Amino acid sequence: MLEYRGVTKKFYKRDAEVVALRNVSFKIDEGRFVSVVGPSGCGKSTLLNLSAGLSMPTAGEVLYKGKQVTDINTQLGYITQRDNLLEWSTVYDNIVIALRIRRMPRQKQKELADYYLNLMGLTDFAKHYPMELSGGMRKRASLARTLIYSPELVMMDEPFSALDAHVKGMMHEELLRVWELEKKTILFITHDLTEAITLSDQVVVLSARPGTVKAIIDIDLPRPRDPFLLQTTPEFIEIYHRVWELLRDDIRKSEAA
Ligand SMILES: Nc1ncnc2c1ncn2[C@@H]1O[C@H](COP(=O)(O)OP(=O)(O)OP(=O)(O)O)[C@@H](O)[C@H]1O
Ligand SMILES: [Mg+2]
Repeated sequence: MLEYRGVTKKFYKRDAEVVALRNVSFKIDEGRFVSVVGPSGCGKSTLLNLSAGLSMPTAGEVLYKGKQVTDINTQLGYITQRDNLLEWSTVYDNIVIALRIRRMPRQKQKELADYYLNLMGLTDFAKHYPMELSGGMRKRASLARTLIYSPELVMMDEPFSALDAHVKGMMHEELLRVWELEKKTILFITHDLTEAITLSDQVVVLSARPGTVKAIIDIDLPRPRDPFLLQTTPEFIEIYHRVWELLRDDIRKSEAA
């Protein structure tokens, strides 16, 4: 579905050069849930911007369904680090925006909106404005707004980082339920290791900047998963320690920088 092949990305600001990513290669097969973890500033959001075609690699290539991404890639869904809900539009209007742009008949828009509002537990808030929602509800609204146009690949950039632990856990349950129901491919960015392991089939560990792939870990914990119970099992804890060992030094390095 998506492949990074030897991707290097440099940014130039005045005289300074920042190497955000160096020679990054990994791929995401259809239907898989893959997370990328790594210290702040190691190029995680940059990876997503490259797949969305918002910027181009300095070296290497990004392939979406076997084709090189050379322009804005509207086929995938991208939930950016900020939720980007339109404050002056209702939840309903926010959710159907992509369908309006595609000029889908209104009745069909409504059917889909009702389905996703219900799926995300937002039916009673359809006429509310984003500022009237809690943090978790805003995240669910932006998820609905992306899922409604059925992208095969959904990229999510630290979607739950601002939420408290319990709301986060509930969002994990919902996301896993939707993923299993709708058979999406998901590329999920986080620096929360517990979150990455709980959700994913595979975790890609990036080093401190310049981001390079340190390891790709298969998470072969059984599904369906109950996020709360899973995190107390010895199998989970063993994987957690293994990945944490890989990340620890790089997180220290990035904190010191
Ligand atoms: N458009 C840009 N112009 C210049 N530098 C940029 C640009 N985008 C990102 N960078 C730099 O590239 C590096 C990687 O940034 P990026 O946002 O991808 O990191 P990140 O891993 O997503 O960090 P965080 O976990 O804090 O969100 C940083 O040093 C950042 O300052
Ligand atoms: Mg980021």
